[in-house]
Amino acid sequence: MTTRVAFITGAAQGIGEAISLRMAADGIDVALFDIRSKEKQLDTVASQIVAKGRKALIVPGDVTSEEEVKNAILKTVETFGGLDIVVANAGILGPLQSLHETSVEEFRQVQAVNVEGVFFCYKYAAQQMIKQGRGGRIIGASSIAGKKPAPRSSPYAASKFAVRGLTQVAAQELAPHNITVNAYAPGVIQTEMTSFPGDLQLGGPGMVIKKHMGLPADMDIGQPSEVAGLVAFLVRPEARFITGQSISINGGTQFD
Ligand SMILES: NC(=O)c1ccc[n+]([C@@H]2O[C@H](COP(=O)([O-])OP(=O)(O)OC[C@H]3O[C@@H](n4cnc5c(N)ncnc54)[C@H](O)[C@@H]3O)[C@@H](O)[C@H]2O)c1
Repeated sequence: MTTRVAFITGAAQGIGEAISLRMAADGIDVALFDIRSKEKQLDTVASQIVAKGRKALIVPGDVTSEEEVKNAILKTVETFGGLDIVVANAGILGPLQSLHETSVEEFRQVQAVNVEGVFFCYKYAAQQMIKQGRGGRIIGASSIAGKKPAPRSSPYAASKFAVRGLTQVAAQELAPHNITVNAYAPGVIQTEMTSFPGDLQLGGPGMVIKKHMGLPADMDIGQPSEVAGLVAFLVRPEARFITGQSISINGGTQFD
């Protein structure tokens, strides 16, 4: 079997980094996409992939630019000879404030990254995978906020509900091409996104966001590698019958 190829956005750190390293550990070559200011971190991730015996390609860009996503996917295909897995992971949290205090600019910025960015990834992944005719796996980043949002998170919650919508539509459209489309919907995972200056004062990692979400202070939080483990399963052959799902991974914070 030829080596499979994955394209991962937001690959410089956090969940995207963990997914990239897990893909490499599972024998997959990886194209790493993140904003230009993260190139140093991308270099580090790429070196770790090479150390695992796999190929890495750095394709810096911004997911809010359709051209940049399109060109990065084309470059990935040109370099590795195909595309089997796309993980539209890049996302931002946006302002944690009341809806009535949120400006349209703040609202649109979150939709541009979290929704349009995912739309562009799904679109160009689908075009390439349909053309290749060998199936594929497309995965997006939703969130617990896309199922049971907390107050003071309207742009983020709206964007993560939208990812579920895109995922459900794309799954139906792409099923005839043997392409599955799913999303992960994590609870609190320990990354930069969930790290706030007040954490230490409140007792440790994730405390500020847990308080914001009304979660118990003593509730365990997840690790990026645990989300990567879920993605690793979704790209395995035996996951072919799972599609259109936004899979909760939240330590029991919320039940579907
Ligand atoms: N950490 C959590 O608790 C949690 C929970 C649920 C969902 N998620 C989702 O998982 C995904 C990854 O989150 P994380 O915690 O690893 O976040 P993170 O902030 O640690 O990493 C996000 C990465 O995305 C990149 N990125 C941001 N905007 C971009 C853009 N316009 N173009 C290209 N790259 C861009 C960042 O540079 C960064 O490297 C996000 O979509 C997030 O919403 C995270």
